[in-house]
Amino acid sequence: MPATAGDLRRMQRDLDSAARALRDARDILIITHIDADGISAGAIADMTAERLGKPHTVRFEKKISEETIELINGSREDLVWICDLGSGYLSEFTRDNIVVTDHHVPDPRWRTRQTVLDSFAGIRHLNPHSYGMDGSYEICGAGMTYLLSKAVDPSNTDLAYLAVVGAVGDFQDSGHSALVSMNRTVMGDAEANGDLVVDMDLRFFGRDTRPINQYLQFSSDPRIPGLSDNAQACLQFLDSMGIRGKSGGRWRTWSSLSADERERATEAILDMVGPEERDRVFGEMYTFPNEPSGTGLRDAKEFATVLNSCGRYDDAETGLRICRGDMSALKDAERNRTEHRRHISEAMSYIRDNHLLRERRFIQWFDAGSEIKETVVGIVAGMVLSSGECRRRIPIIAFADSEDGVKVSARADRSLVDRGLDLSQVMKTASELVGGYGGGHTVAAGATIPPDKKEEFLDIVEDLVSSQVE
Ligand code: C5P
Ligand code: ZN
Repeated sequence: MPATAGDLRRMQRDLDSAARALRDARDILIITHIDADGISAGAIADMTAERLGKPHTVRFEKKISEETIELINGSREDLVWICDLGSGYLSEFTRDNIVVTDHHVPDPRWRTRQTVLDSFAGIRHLNPHSYGMDGSYEICGAGMTYLLSKAVDPSNTDLAYLAVVGAVGDFQDSGHSALVSMNRTVMGDAEANGDLVVDMDLRFFGRDTRPINQYLQFSSDPRIPGLSDNAQACLQFLDSMGIRGKSGGRWRTWSSLSADERERATEAILDMVGPEERDRVFGEMYTFPNEPSGTGLRDAKEFATVLNSCGRYDDAETGLRICRGDMSALKDAERNRTEHRRHISEAMSYIRDNHLLRERRFIQWFDAGSEIKETVVGIVAGMVLSSGECRRRIPIIAFADSEDGVKVSARADRSLVDRGLDLSQVMKTASELVGGYGGGHTVAAGATIPPDKKEEFLDIVEDLVSSQVE
């Protein structure tokens, strides 16, 4: 059900009330997630608090664990602002003066209790699901955080482009090959400022920094038949188009091609993919014209990857510095990015070479053990799903060892959501039944479960998936 004018009025009223709470706070503890959306959200909250002149600290968390809940409930700060996290665990919070700007599926227990117990008003919960919107594509965590920032001070619209990074980082543009709904409003603020240019282009990763041959070779989601994973064919393709791959001895990038070259190559590529894939291959792309070229910060997808490669390797602080415009952080980010690239490519080979992917009737799964970091296994699961090397029409579940049990990541194609799938609910229910916890979004969710419960967990997940999907 789409948001009504009444929903939007209610959201603005709640945003204004949370903005007052921020203005009234003595000091603020900001808790945010370590992924691209979380880091962008954290940066927006950080700069909002700074501009209000409030003493504040930013803390990054992989997830809401028991320790995070204790930290929040026991914190000495006057106000705790939780970004891109928290909605799934509302009923665990016992302290007053909490603001949550998140887009994960809210904790159903909290809803019931909230109607029974008015004292739960201690939490100001700002989540698109409460206002008739779907948090998996209509607005992200950084977007909700930005809306609050703008309610605090309308001149904070200079932070809108960071919310675009968050939305793209959470793949909110992938279903329509464009940002839609509330994300589009945020996008409009960034465009109006001159911080963002939106154009129609191929939607593959690495327009601004990948050598053009690799840009074509590593194209995925969807693949270009004949070019993806075929280095030789990519060189031949460029040759046949009369496009020089190098200039002055250096590889050119997709963005550096002339408009004419890009147009001809785009047409040829669109002819190579099936008609139903064309809308996924070509669509809106987001450029930040004020970021220096070659840094990986000019293109929204690449900016998000820079942040992900910091956050997922225990260095979210570097990501935060980048969002704050600190260019001296780029060197540290580059180191993280090299590590991220290496880890992802090793992870993909590990799964392939060891034939780890197993199929059941309604799901497929792999267990990466300690070979893939728990913070990255979700990204890898998504890449395996879109690699063309497995069935796209069933969800993928991945396991990786973690400190407090086994980390689970689940991903599915959006078409399954249209048929009733909700991975957030699947992860929450199945993990709780085996003594763990979890949640997330309809298309991407996760959990932590006890190590000896994997089989039982998969059985439950399969039952739930088969009962949800028509
Ligand atoms: O870790 P992963 O990328 O697989 O997480 C997918 C989504 O599920 C994220 O948005 C994450 O915040 C959410 N999640 C959750 N609870 C967990 C694990 C993941 O809500 N225990
Ligand atoms: Zn998010």
